[in-house]
Amino acid sequence: MTPGLEPIETASVDELRALQLTRLGETLRRAYEHVPHYRAAFDAAGVRPEDVRDLSDLASLPFTSKADLRANYPFGMFAVPREQVARIHASSGTTGRPTVVGYTAEDLDTWATVMARSIRAAGGRPGDVLHNAYGYGLFTGGLGAHAGAERLGCTVVPVSGGMTERQVRLIVDFEPRVIMVTPSYMLAIVDEMVRQGVDPRSTSLEVGIFGAEPWTNEMRREMEDLLAIDAVDIYGLSEVMGPGVAQECVETKDGLHVWEDHFYPEVVDPVTGDVLPDGEEGELVFTSLTKQAMPVIRYRTRDLTRLLPGTARTMRRMEKVTGRTDDMIILRGVNLFPTQVEELLLGIAELSPHFQCVLQRPDRLDEMTVRVESREGVGIEAAGVAGEQLRHLVKSTIGVSVAVDVVPPGGIERSVGKMRRIVDQRGLR
Ligand code: DLL
Repeated sequence: MTPGLEPIETASVDELRALQLTRLGETLRRAYEHVPHYRAAFDAAGVRPEDVRDLSDLASLPFTSKADLRANYPFGMFAVPREQVARIHASSGTTGRPTVVGYTAEDLDTWATVMARSIRAAGGRPGDVLHNAYGYGLFTGGLGAHAGAERLGCTVVPVSGGMTERQVRLIVDFEPRVIMVTPSYMLAIVDEMVRQGVDPRSTSLEVGIFGAEPWTNEMRREMEDLLAIDAVDIYGLSEVMGPGVAQECVETKDGLHVWEDHFYPEVVDPVTGDVLPDGEEGELVFTSLTKQAMPVIRYRTRDLTRLLPGTARTMRRMEKVTGRTDDMIILRGVNLFPTQVEELLLGIAELSPHFQCVLQRPDRLDEMTVRVESREGVGIEAAGVAGEQLRHLVKSTIGVSVAVDVVPPGGIERSVGKMRRIVDQRGLR
């Protein structure tokens, strides 16, 4: 056994599948018996928990969607009396009712365990100073990462997002080895370092654990180069737990190991809902295996990825998420994700990683403008040439015409959490 790893991280696939099947049975019974929504959904589909005798039988169960969570707002999906719910988190609810999730004390303990496991896989160690710039509050990022870092035995600096000047000062003064933050906010912190005359490569940071939004391998190279760190990906979602559902291992950086002893992944065709074999891209679906307060059965994440065999751990990997089905831009019949634009623009030396995709509908047809900042010190003419280069690249690789607007450094709004990559102005005239 590798020192520091939990036995299950290196257990055989057979052992893992047996554990999953036992836990799945418990979860289905819990959901059916205690959550009216699941009882009704299972009954309508004509299936009962005991019909699931094999992991592949999961496919016969109905999906759960965000709409189901909203319809049962606020506490209708809980499988325990509210008094046993130790904590609530919720999504921002910018589009309609927020989605509410709940945790028992045992769930919080499980979450801390998988988060500690994630930080360790990322290269964090007991005794490290860890700067946590994920937002604290109803968002799961801050408190979720916090508990895991404490569990691992780190010295946690609970900065949360925002007050960028102070972020830099604390990094300089407290000398953290690990930083946890969204990749887009990391870039804003780097800008601030430069403004304060701090060389980003000279700080104490060695590991960046970036997630909560899509980012590409090109962005990884950019961050590793800018900061002289190892940059690894962390994935999760509130409905399934929060951060720590899957984590990339620093030794391989080849996609994220799903902590399958707690979260059972499937990838389905986003249109038909059919389960796809491992290796094929589709929508990620999760069934929780140990959650007490709010079990989720076949929850549709809307995130697009594929499942791959384990490498650094026996558990399966998910490829870096390309985007969400609801972030897919359909431009004159061509499907496109902001991550594809990110990949292309990071190949052009004059362009910075700060960009947004602006959608407009001047007539009947949608048009997209990539607004991107030039890098510091790039003249107007060179910026124009770079913009033209990006326009060509998008046309030749993605196959659709877009406009490119190169703006000076600082011309694009900074996020302190998740960055809004798509600015939809199609409703505006
Ligand atoms: O973003 C949990 C989290 C916090 C993950 C901190 C990692 C770090 P939600 O706010 O519920 O939870 O948003 C979940 O964010 O369905 C994905 O679309 C997206 N997302 C999360 N991690 C990644 C990632 C948190 N590593 C939604 N890559 C998910 C791409 C990600 N997208």
